[in-house]
Amino acid sequence: MSTITENHKKLERNVTLLGVFAFLAVIIGGLVEIVPLFWVKNTVEKVEGMRPYTPLELAGRNIYMREGCYNCHSQMVRPFRDEVERYGHYSLAAESMYDHPFQWGSKRTGPDLARVGGRYSDEWHVQHLIDPRSVVPESIMPPYAFLAERELKAGDMTKHLTALSRVGVPYSEKDIEQANADLAAQADPEADTDDLLARYPKAQARDFDGNPGKLTEMDALVAYMQMLGTLVDFKAAEAQEQPR
Ligand code: HEC
Repeated sequence: MSTITENHKKLERNVTLLGVFAFLAVIIGGLVEIVPLFWVKNTVEKVEGMRPYTPLELAGRNIYMREGCYNCHSQMVRPFRDEVERYGHYSLAAESMYDHPFQWGSKRTGPDLARVGGRYSDEWHVQHLIDPRSVVPESIMPPYAFLAERELKAGDMTKHLTALSRVGVPYSEKDIEQANADLAAQADPEADTDDLLARYPKAQARDFDGNPGKLTEMDALVAYMQMLGTLVDFKAAEAQEQPR
């Protein structure tokens, strides 16, 4: 028998020796996998157009989480043909890089919402949330009519943005300073929003719930729905990928 087989036999029959060598193998494998990650600045490829949420979108996102919308809706289009044809371009890692926590989800009782922004009018969303079956008769989604009544009490958005900036969301000092004013301005048709729109490109500023006199939870949630999937220009990206 060759010495290699002999040595291997010894290794396999001595549990301590086998343990030591198995441990070494795992350590080396682990180092090879993990150590390079300390040298790359970011594992997520940056994509043009992505920006942090505006305070109003963020408040809407908080309502989305509070109401457990993620129990029925995912926010990740998988790179499969059926999904791409139904929902649009598959989701990119960069599209959830500012999400804390992310909303990918693992269950779809209702459709994926990663690209729902701009697909329906504000009026549709409001009507759908007040009474889903009035617009989609076969819907099993619960009604959320109270959102239209409830005044938006988002808390101190300065603190919220500060917390997010600590975990790496690139809010500027001005974004943080202005957070509470920005929250109100985005849903106020009378407000001057030039500065807000300059700091948050593609942000949509208007009264979202059809009730301009009152800032409601509905305003925030619809603002959030309407921005989902609208930041990255996939038409431009696709034209580049496959010149026709
Ligand atoms: C019990 C499961 C359930 C929950 C919870 C739920 N939904 Fe739905 N949702 C559905 C189903 C089913 C549909 C498809 C039928 C319809 O359009 O009503 C749907 C459809 C939608 C649509 C239309 C999507 C499209 O592309 O047509 C939106 C927008 C939506 N839901 C938002 C929400 C929001 C926001 C919440 C939380 C406030 C929520 N849903 C909570 C089940 C749910």
